[in-house]
Amino acid sequence: MKHAQTALASLCLGLAVLTAPGMAGAQSEPYKVFDTKPVITEGPYLSALSDTAVSVMWMTDAPSHAKLRLYDGDKVREIEPQVDGLVPVGQRHVVTVTGLEPGKHYSYEAIATRVVKLKPYWPDKGLSISCAPATFTTFSPQQAKISFSVVTDTHEDTARIGRLMKMVDWDSTDALLHLGDAFHWVDSEEQVWSKWLRPTVAAMGPGKPLLFARGNHELRGAYARQLAGYVPTPEGTYYYSRAMGPVHLLVLDTAEDKPDDTNVYAQLNRTVPYRESELAWLRGEVTGNRHFAKAPFRVVAMHQADWGWLPDSGAAWTALANQAGVDLVIAGHDHAFSYHAPDKTHAYHTLILGQDQLARVDATDRTLTVKVVSDKGVTAHTLTIPVRR
Ligand SMILES: [Fe+2]
Repeated sequence: MKHAQTALASLCLGLAVLTAPGMAGAQSEPYKVFDTKPVITEGPYLSALSDTAVSVMWMTDAPSHAKLRLYDGDKVREIEPQVDGLVPVGQRHVVTVTGLEPGKHYSYEAIATRVVKLKPYWPDKGLSISCAPATFTTFSPQQAKISFSVVTDTHEDTARIGRLMKMVDWDSTDALLHLGDAFHWVDSEEQVWSKWLRPTVAAMGPGKPLLFARGNHELRGAYARQLAGYVPTPEGTYYYSRAMGPVHLLVLDTAEDKPDDTNVYAQLNRTVPYRESELAWLRGEVTGNRHFAKAPFRVVAMHQADWGWLPDSGAAWTALANQAGVDLVIAGHDHAFSYHAPDKTHAYHTLILGQDQLARVDATDRTLTVKVVSDKGVTAHTLTIPVRR
């Protein structure tokens, strides 16, 4: 892992920006540019890729501003984020790219420029650094097949992450899906990287996307409120859907496993209105999304297979999934494998992945297969679902 990080870091090159251009048409006096450039210390990696958008995130060792240079064949686009009209300056960088074309190859460079001092006028700047271009392919509603690899409940065990990541066939997988509880609780930025993202991104590289379904443990701890900044999504929410060829994937946030008024939360949780918003969004997806309507397979990926704690115990969610024709729920939370065939209550297959297992999902327009293998290389289960329409 250390080797991979070093190799990745070495791909980030200082740019020869030695002049201080000032602003075109503004005063001639330039701002100062010091001979210092940032180091990209983490990433870049692709978060929550879709058929038309992606969020790219990386870190630098010193305050910088960031942009993404996107190569689309001969065309070059630069995407620079702004918040309320200001370019963000910091060490954590997120650039969300929209307007991509489905099923298309792109390459990108993550670029960071040092900001030495944020003065009101003429802030002091530094030099830029750029990573070697990395390539990725957007999902497409039209692609003939899709493959993704799934892990869950890694719970800060970096040896476990290492074992599971080695089992992934990266050449043939389109995405890594993590079903939550990467942490016991979320405490700090360093923990987010050291206990999860660093070993994950080292294996995944800058060109494969991470899809993340938040677990109940991710709502806990002093840094829980900052976690979204490390698993950004173009939508800005933890729940989203993806049109991935034969699969319409619904990534849900099942939030906590106990009521908001449980004493341990000290009146700091309000998941009820949050889940109501999520359910309203889900209703819109299953009734209004064209790819959902025609996709051969509809898959829900979420942390708690029973939808998490809800005042109605998830009855409205189960009814909606049944009515919408969800084929498969893939979840974690139990730390042990189980499989439940469709029954009178649940009209869909439910596969709960264990903590030390890797699931590989492969789908064409005829068949969806999930193969679950333990970190000892033993096949725990193979589920094949034929298309029902
Ligand atoms: Fe959990």
